Amino acid sequence: MDDKTLQALLDATAPLIELAVAEDIGPGDATSTATLAPNALLHGRITAKEHGIIAGLPVAEAVFRRVDPAITFTAHVADGQEVAPGEIVAEVVGPGPSLLAAERTALNFLQRMSGIATLTRSFVAAVATTNATILDTRKTLPGYRVLDKYAVRMGGGVNHRMSLFDMLMVKDNHIDGAGSLALAVERARAQHPDLPIEVEVRTLDELRQALAIEPPLDRIMLDNMDLNTMREAVAITAGRVPLEASGNVTRARVKDIAETGVDFISIGALTHSVKAFDLSMKIQPVDKATKTDPAARIREVKAAFGNRLVILGHHYQREEVIAFADFRGDSLELARRAAQTDAEFIVFCGVHFMAEVAAILAKPGQRVLIPDIEAGCFLAETAAEPVVAEAWRLLDAALAATGSSADAEITPITYVNSDAELKAFCGRHNGTVCTSGNAEKVLKWALSQRPRVFFFPDQHLGRNTAHKLGIADAEMLLWNTRRPPSAEAIQAAKVILWPGACNVHQRFRVEHIHAMRARYPGIRVIVHPECKAELVALADDAGSTAYIVKQVEAAPAGTQWAIGTESRLVHRLQAEHPNQLILSLSDVPPFCANMSQITLANLAEVMDALARGELLNEVTVEPETRHWARVALERMLSL
Ligand code: 13P
Ligand code: SF4
Repeated sequence: MDDKTLQALLDATAPLIELAVAEDIGPGDATSTATLAPNALLHGRITAKEHGIIAGLPVAEAVFRRVDPAITFTAHVADGQEVAPGEIVAEVVGPGPSLLAAERTALNFLQRMSGIATLTRSFVAAVATTNATILDTRKTLPGYRVLDKYAVRMGGGVNHRMSLFDMLMVKDNHIDGAGSLALAVERARAQHPDLPIEVEVRTLDELRQALAIEPPLDRIMLDNMDLNTMREAVAITAGRVPLEASGNVTRARVKDIAETGVDFISIGALTHSVKAFDLSMKIQPVDKATKTDPAARIREVKAAFGNRLVILGHHYQREEVIAFADFRGDSLELARRAAQTDAEFIVFCGVHFMAEVAAILAKPGQRVLIPDIEAGCFLAETAAEPVVAEAWRLLDAALAATGSSADAEITPITYVNSDAELKAFCGRHNGTVCTSGNAEKVLKWALSQRPRVFFFPDQHLGRNTAHKLGIADAEMLLWNTRRPPSAEAIQAAKVILWPGACNVHQRFRVEHIHAMRARYPGIRVIVHPECKAELVALADDAGSTAYIVKQVEAAPAGTQWAIGTESRLVHRLQAEHPNQLILSLSDVPPFCANMSQITLANLAEVMDALARGELLNEVTVEPETRHWARVALERMLSL
């Protein structure tokens, strides 16, 4: 978060903290001052009790410091980061009565803001594979506008207008009052020529009137339309004016709404129907707190096992976890390293598919463990083997009509971010695997084998890589599982792309690149190829996480970077290269929720179990799948 955003948040919060402290503490916390010694130092752990997104840590810190400047507040996560149940969000140390007096007020802010961020993130994730952007509204708690909207941004949403004064929005009441839509717009524009203007329409007839206005409006809001009408509205508008869907947007409907092709979806519920995020604070004396340190246990077990155990860590892992990795890398480097190590136990700090690759490539007797067996990958989950196999059957049928077959004409490539079953599918059908580090080489090889490629699950990596080889969009076909393409479309396609995407990398937008370049002329923009093609085209460079790391390492002091990939890597690069300016491309840096599932606590549990002779969270793959997945992976590693 930049200093200006932080200051704006704290300025908006200061009067609210005064009100809250006055109503809760008033002349003093009667119980705490009566029961606790005034100077006894206590230690408090603020812990998440459910899965969600944290927002409001600077506000919680400001509350503690307002109650007693002697309190120290240490955040263990950043705003916008996903946390798991049991995870420590922050620690506070200070005089006991002060800690307990501040606790409720600090948590009230943190719980409300994290509730908004968590709800927002669930909507953002639901539309991640579409082009729609989730917006908030003015339906915020009175007085809390800045806080509520900040929390929406931390959840990955985008703010709509802040207030009535920063954007013109002509609604039904204005239209009815002015007499006509055109007249209302004319009057609004005449008085405020510099403000952007949006018009709300209730029918397709009103939409046509709005589209006829010159110069074109900045945005049109489709109020409470059903899906078919929205689809028609998108077709009529044909990209001339951005469209916003509004009204009755629920989690169950939001993806369908996004798939109509609208550009924005505004949701009042993000801030008017807030469910507080469950957090608690437990207090203990300072000396007791230091005895339950998971890092100490990890160090102990690691030392006892020596080179019988290796810890591998992906670049997106938390700082405190990656600190224990014997080797850190991108998915390609980790796959190679896993295949080379002779250690008996491989503890994989990454997501499940990465540990699965290690298990597939493991030597006899080697065991692979993961601190959280549930740490999946949003992208990998967009493609299940039976659905891909069904698409393959349809491809086969379409090519059979020309006297050929899928096996004769198509090389399947699965991005490594996929289940073992899909890798096995590629092994069986003469295909292979790729990572973001070798996708170009793999695609070239695949097209040298057969004239077509079926690439899954990441449509963007597939498209970006095909562009590098000079393949035009017209030669690519985006698969649609609900409405499979026609046989003619299949026969005309060179690269068939699965419609999957990573929700973390979809949060970067072209506006971020423009804003960065306007603010830092000469800044180098580098993005991961899981970002949309329009971003890759506009960026200075694109590549895997290891590629990004290498570019930064090779750059001279003074270089400025805006990086479009997961935030923990970006923060680490900045810490390791203080002579360069290294920023996240997005003003709200995205964290990978799946990678966040690996914590110091669950790494310590796995290590502790190992010390007791137990294999906790072992990753295994059943032999037949493992055989074919290994065929596909070894094909990749031999290229
Ligand atoms: P890398 O291949 O760059 O490690 O990327 C893996 C990944 O999951 C990116 O989101
Ligand atoms: Fe999967 Fe995206 Fe996380 Fe990478 S960043 S592990 S693709 S969800």
